[in-house]
Amino acid sequence: MRARTQFTCSACGAVHPKWSGQCADCGAWNTLEETVAQGGTAEASPRFAGYSGEAATVRRLGDVVVQAEPRSSTGLSELDRVLGGGLVHGSVVLIGGDPGIGKSTLLLQSLAVMTAGDSGSGPRGLYVTGEESPQQVSLRARRLDLPYEDLSLLTETCAERIIRHAQQAEPDIMVVDSIQTLYTEQLQSAPGSVAQVRESAAQLVRFAKQTGTALFIVGHVTKEGQLAGPRVLEHMVDTVLYFEGDPGGRYRVLRAVKNRFGAVNELGVFAMLDTGLRPVSNPSAIFLSRHEEPVAGSVVMVTREGTRPLLVEVQALVAESHAAQPRRITVGLEQNRLTMLLAVLHRHGGIALFDQDVFINVVGGVRVTETAADLPMLAAALSSFRDRPLPQDLVVFGEVGLAGEIRPVPNGEERLREAAKHGYTRAIVPAANAPRKAIKGMEVTAVSRLAQVLDVL
Ligand code: TYD
Ligand code: MG
Repeated sequence: MRARTQFTCSACGAVHPKWSGQCADCGAWNTLEETVAQGGTAEASPRFAGYSGEAATVRRLGDVVVQAEPRSSTGLSELDRVLGGGLVHGSVVLIGGDPGIGKSTLLLQSLAVMTAGDSGSGPRGLYVTGEESPQQVSLRARRLDLPYEDLSLLTETCAERIIRHAQQAEPDIMVVDSIQTLYTEQLQSAPGSVAQVRESAAQLVRFAKQTGTALFIVGHVTKEGQLAGPRVLEHMVDTVLYFEGDPGGRYRVLRAVKNRFGAVNELGVFAMLDTGLRPVSNPSAIFLSRHEEPVAGSVVMVTREGTRPLLVEVQALVAESHAAQPRRITVGLEQNRLTMLLAVLHRHGGIALFDQDVFINVVGGVRVTETAADLPMLAAALSSFRDRPLPQDLVVFGEVGLAGEIRPVPNGEERLREAAKHGYTRAIVPAANAPRKAIKGMEVTAVSRLAQVLDVL
């Protein structure tokens, strides 16, 4: 039965019986979203029961027995790593990413391997897709040479019907691909709208938590547009992973941005081959483009996203601007950070780039979120501006403060060792990151002020 619905303004919270383009209360445009009305059938249904499904009691924290969550391998070592050491039984994982990045491939591979028990004794898997036909999924499974015989498949987009089927099939692990194709009978808005995505996901999560089913939800990340991004779901699930990379490139990075059962910012690296996704267990130097000749504007940094150091190349192009507002464009790094760094460079280094466009790119579609990229960004921009290549055996990392000071980053020594392992012999690092004991074959220049950096570059 369809629940009574209403429209709630996401800006001021006012409730209206009908949809309109503008909220009559606060005047904001396009903020009315369909929601299930209080006192509708939804409240009578068990939707307000606790997620865990059991009645809760008040307890002393000291009496709570702590057990390590049971986990299983997903069959893909890098996925296990990002999840914090395997899939926690009964957990709900959201995997977001651009269309075509490989989300369906990743989950089909993993589910097939996880459920390939010796004839029925293994965990049961259910792959629900609203995006592809059974033929397409089957073809892919065959082409990837997966053990797909025991895998159950459902092509369905109605959340209530998916849950009804799942109640019968009783899977241990379920994949729903993708949340944007689902709709719930309770709401009238189109599939993909924020309200539909949120309500369908809430129903699936409730089902998963009540039955102890492990659930993977796929969500497409979209630029501001019609489809609701998976952002609205992040608080409902245990773990949020983002699958990133340059779709034309070979490598994909899986990143944990939220994890109730493990560390965040852990990275998993995969290669997309014609035989599917293959975990790359030693990825530290794959994101380098390895120029034959030194080129201006290129710098190698050691980033440490998650628990592994990773060598990545940061490229800059600084070119005279003909726009009224010079452009500051970054791919794989934060744009605000670049603007800030250029201001520091001007104020504390006396180098003004206000008549120059500055473009920064991290090679290989990697995204670097840590501040250790500050110094590499500046070094790359300077190198391009002066058209002076940096030595090819040089690595750089460090945070730059607003006062022009160079601040240390975590695990400096480990980063330097990784660089040395790959044949780098020179490094410019924050003074506080200089190793106490010299690293063999690595000449370290320690800097504490921007002025010093400008001197050595
Ligand atoms: P897909 O998993 O369908 O992406 P998503 O579900 O995130 O939209 O993967 C899409 C791309 O992956 C597709 O463009 C082709 C490529 N691909 C390979 O290169 N090798 C393969 O073995 C497979 C299955 C896909
Ligand atoms: Mg897909």
